[in-house]
Amino acid sequence: MPFNLKGRSFLKLLDFTTEEISYLLDLSAKLKADKRAGIFAKNLENKSIALIFEKSSTRTRCAFVVAVSDEGGHAEYLGKGDIQLNKKESVKDTARVLGRMFDGIQFRGYKHSTVEELAKYAGVPVWNGLTDQFHPTQILADFLTIKENFGYLKGIKFAYAGDGRNNMANSLMVGAAKMGMDFRIVAPESLFPDEELVATCREIAKETGAKITLTASVDEGVKGCDVIYTDVWASMGEEDLIPERIKLLKPYQVNMEMLRKTGNSNVIFLHCLPAFHNDETDMARQFPEIKEVTDEVFESKYSKVFDEAENRVHTIKAVMVATLGK
Ligand code: CP
Ligand code: NVA
Repeated sequence: MPFNLKGRSFLKLLDFTTEEISYLLDLSAKLKADKRAGIFAKNLENKSIALIFEKSSTRTRCAFVVAVSDEGGHAEYLGKGDIQLNKKESVKDTARVLGRMFDGIQFRGYKHSTVEELAKYAGVPVWNGLTDQFHPTQILADFLTIKENFGYLKGIKFAYAGDGRNNMANSLMVGAAKMGMDFRIVAPESLFPDEELVATCREIAKETGAKITLTASVDEGVKGCDVIYTDVWASMGEEDLIPERIKLLKPYQVNMEMLRKTGNSNVIFLHCLPAFHNDETDMARQFPEIKEVTDEVFESKYSKVFDEAENRVHTIKAVMVATLGK
């Protein structure tokens, strides 16, 4: 069933119903199939899209650029240092200027309040490409990948192991609550998510049949799971915390033993990426114990991380087409 999301911003999954999220996932699958078949409907023809980045990005930036290009629009990258935002011009003024020129705005940065303020004043759809609190477009790619592997979301047993209070943990918990999943945060208690957000998700779960569990026990958390997910132990902007996080999160590293503990031979491994899984990066050479996932798991048949990365394009395209397309 089609939904009218025209003119809406996409800031966090809490703003969307279960049906609207399902619709975005169905549209993503359709746009993916169309692209495979060489069909490009040019839904964003004559549209100009601003891409504001306060933080680095490979996938999100490239997914927006490719998706806009596939749909016949133009994307303009506005990196840190390129525009006056926060230095000589307020968020509110920047929103009103860019909203007069562009048809849609993507924002990646630190404070979630910035993307909310941009959306309030821009007068055009604003899409959250990651803030300290939420990363909603990533969840659509994750859930599309789960649907491709299992065919459904409701009842999927999903464990997120690692930093249980970062943007990925928050957004996955909200998404899982909305889609009726059996979701577990597997983390030390000091890294459990914000209590208010957990309470909100548990309220949503009452409607959708989801289950939200927080546990420090790996054995309990991963038992029977279909999906094991992790993310970096220190997010962008938290680099000072790396030594402390390594100590706290070492027992939560995703390894073959953890996959075996699920008791599910069809389990899949997902990660939003970038991931520390070998010594081929500067940061992993500086902190060899930083690896949230072993190379063995990352390179195994259980790992669907590159399907998931590709799905960023199709899902981000769906968000733009649904909110701005013709
Ligand atoms: N997963 C993700 O958002 O990747 P980037 O930081 O490369 O955009
Ligand atoms: N939690 C990570 C996600 C990166 C896509 C970060 O914010 O750095």
